[in-house]
Amino acid sequence: MDITDDTAGRLPEIVALFTESFSAAEGPEEGAAVGHLARRMITQTPAPDLRVFLAQESGAIIAAICFSRLGHGGDGRSVFLLSPVAVATARQGQGIGRRLIVHGLAALREEGVDIAVTYGDPDFYGRVGFRPVSEEILPAPFPLGQPEGWLACPLTQAPLARLAGPVRCVAALADPSFW
Ligand SMILES: CC(C)(COP(=O)(O)OP(=O)(O)OC[C@H]1O[C@@H](n2cnc3c(N)ncnc32)[C@H](O)[C@@H]1OP(=O)(O)O)[C@@H](O)C(=O)NCCC(=O)NCCS
Repeated sequence: MDITDDTAGRLPEIVALFTESFSAAEGPEEGAAVGHLARRMITQTPAPDLRVFLAQESGAIIAAICFSRLGHGGDGRSVFLLSPVAVATARQGQGIGRRLIVHGLAALREEGVDIAVTYGDPDFYGRVGFRPVSEEILPAPFPLGQPEGWLACPLTQAPLARLAGPVRCVAALADPSFW
């Protein structure tokens, strides 16, 4: 398996991966919604605000992850949101998701990003360094339906001090139903 950030010409394959993986895990409606989200995120997000990493084997994509910028007003720190991530259904439970997330976090750290944040399963993301964070410390772009799933992973040694609002996510995520 190798990991690349070169997504050129691979949009259909990436969308298919997200659609199929989430359809199998959570049903066809959710699969279609996440496939659509990935398409919008990749086609409509300005390059400085998006990082995508693909895990591939023999030229085929077996996992994909997106990180997009979460702006906090005039706060000088940079924050990226991990969402979505998926591993091909037949390849789940083999450590691929963990390796892809760890790779993505290391790449963000390397380029100077201060904080990664995600909204998901605390058990799963807790294994790769995310910890629950309050909306007071790290304001979210929309009211959270499941605030216990709001998770942060500091990428520097600095303590996680409160970020000032207003918060701005990328257009693909600017839909209250995601939150
Ligand atoms: C969730 C997903 C990305 C994990 O990738 P994966 O390659 O299957 O996971 P890994 O094999 O790397 O597992 C990493 C760890 O997380 C655990 N884990 C995996 N899936 C989990 C889940 N859904 N809930 C809790 N823990 C989970 C594993 O037991 C493992 O722990 P360990 O290393 O302590 O044994 C993948 O299963 C997937 O694409 N699922 C469908 C889509 C989805 O749910 N995406 C994430 C939305 S938050």
